[in-house]
Amino acid sequence: MCGIVGYVGEQHPKEFLIDGLKKLEYRGYDSSGIAIKNSDNIQIIKSTGKISDLEDKVNNENLINSKLGIAHTRWATHGEANETNAHPHKVGRTTLVHNGIIENATDLKNKLVNEGVVFRSETDTEVACAVINNYYNGDPIKAITEAIKTLKGSYAFGILFEDQDKLYAVRKDSPLIVGIGEGENYIASDIAAIIKYTDKYMLLEDDEVVELTKDEVKVYKDGVKIDKEVQTSTMTIEDANKGNYKHFMLKEIMEEPIVLQRTLNKYINDMDKMVDISSYEEIHIVACGSALYAGMIGKCLLEEKANIKCMTECASEYRYKKIIYDRKTLVILVSQSGETADTIAAMRKAHEEGIDTLAIVNVKTSTIAREAKQTLFIEAGPEIAVATTKAYLLQVAMFSLIALKAAHSKGLEDNYNEILKEAKSLPDYLRKVLNDKDTFAGVGKEIKDARDAFYIGRGVDYAMCEEGSLKLKEVSYTHSDAYQAGELKHGTISLIEEGVPVFAIITNDKIKDKTESNVIEVESRQARIYTITNDPSIMNHHFKYVVEKLSDYFQPILIVPPLQLIGYYTALERGLDIDKPRNLAKSVTVE
Ligand code: M6R
Repeated sequence: MCGIVGYVGEQHPKEFLIDGLKKLEYRGYDSSGIAIKNSDNIQIIKSTGKISDLEDKVNNENLINSKLGIAHTRWATHGEANETNAHPHKVGRTTLVHNGIIENATDLKNKLVNEGVVFRSETDTEVACAVINNYYNGDPIKAITEAIKTLKGSYAFGILFEDQDKLYAVRKDSPLIVGIGEGENYIASDIAAIIKYTDKYMLLEDDEVVELTKDEVKVYKDGVKIDKEVQTSTMTIEDANKGNYKHFMLKEIMEEPIVLQRTLNKYINDMDKMVDISSYEEIHIVACGSALYAGMIGKCLLEEKANIKCMTECASEYRYKKIIYDRKTLVILVSQSGETADTIAAMRKAHEEGIDTLAIVNVKTSTIAREAKQTLFIEAGPEIAVATTKAYLLQVAMFSLIALKAAHSKGLEDNYNEILKEAKSLPDYLRKVLNDKDTFAGVGKEIKDARDAFYIGRGVDYAMCEEGSLKLKEVSYTHSDAYQAGELKHGTISLIEEGVPVFAIITNDKIKDKTESNVIEVESRQARIYTITNDPSIMNHHFKYVVEKLSDYFQPILIVPPLQLIGYYTALERGLDIDKPRNLAKSVTVE
């Protein structure tokens, strides 16, 4: 959601800036722009649409000589996606790009308009630019430090001043890193944008202001220079590229066995390393989107296996709702990016109430990873496709291990050692499923023209249905819904007509007969049934795929990849922009 890159060095910044924006495309955007400067001029070029459109424009312009620049991909929040609203914005001597939302922009704008400032765009960013410019009288650090005291909300800014040949940046509640190169330095929303140039980077804490020249990076807090640690990223250039795959989404699905192995290996040989949550009386699992659906699987396991009262709530509700913390409670935050604004707010709410938090996170440098009381890292590596696949799978695996550990600690799991043994074979079982990817490509072909699709299941199967349905709708734009199988009769069955695809997930022995009855109900209304199960004896209606039968802890891990592949292949059949679905952002850093 918005991406920022900035360069100062010895080269013309064009190549770095355009390349960096391309690497940040996955975050989601609808317009983009660059600003380059030298001691006499500043040149701003903007475009709506794809980065390639901006690139064409840049290539057709007479560019000024320059060794300093900033660039931006915008995901519209204030004002539509047009060139006027696209970043960079320039007010007076200040030019900036912004990721985040300035919550008091309207008040500040009214004040500035009264003072005679003229605004061109509808954006909160231009207001922030004007505020900084108002404070600027030749001392950039002072201007930025003073300006951020008046700004409410979230921001990562890349800033240029007309009379300075340096690059400036600051962040609060929006990601921004500083890349350290040789004879050149960079800023970027994430490491993917700079890994081709350097693996050395610095993390900025909230409201630390950074000043970059080609040879030096200086960081200030409240106007005072501070020391910062330089870190080395483990990301590789291959991670940031698609390799032989047509899309990151497929590449990342096919990586699942490897990343699963990497994540499980940390614990299954030494479960002492796994967090023990058995002493908590209540668990709140709070997250958004797929991460929430992973949490729903976690809830089923924690309740069924470890006997712990558990609720799931989407973070955007949890953060504003009255929560009664009347038992010993743990809040588990789940987030691939660790930067989802609502999940961060939910975490901070729990902290304000003195509640323990545990985060399941992928990005180690993220806000949630840094602020949660305890953190379990999944080892997904960079996930570039907007639709999460491998990270979601690992979030589920992490809940399997948490529940297994808690059940064992409470003396509720008689088959503990056998289940740990099963975990060792899990990546191989998963490989077997992924080897059948052509089967799911066939399903994608069949359903490519469907207007609607439904996913039905009970208990943990229903939790998986939610994820299957989200995957299909977000990448293939097919309307789909997930229902507890028993709920269909209460209204939704009226939507079932001839040929509507209905995906039935049936893994739970205790209630499989019940789901099967619901399947027959929709089939008699001419729905086309696709069953994914672990039970070979389940009836085949139109399509049936059977996975290995595993313990309840790990069964979901084999069911989910087929659902991801069906989403992928349906979108492929429809010829869509799979890695960057319309309107979506990889990490939702604003409310
Ligand atoms: O980075 P997070 O895990 O916090 O992101 C949460 C959701 O925004 C994310 O899972 C979203 O639903 C994906 N588009 C799903 O593929």
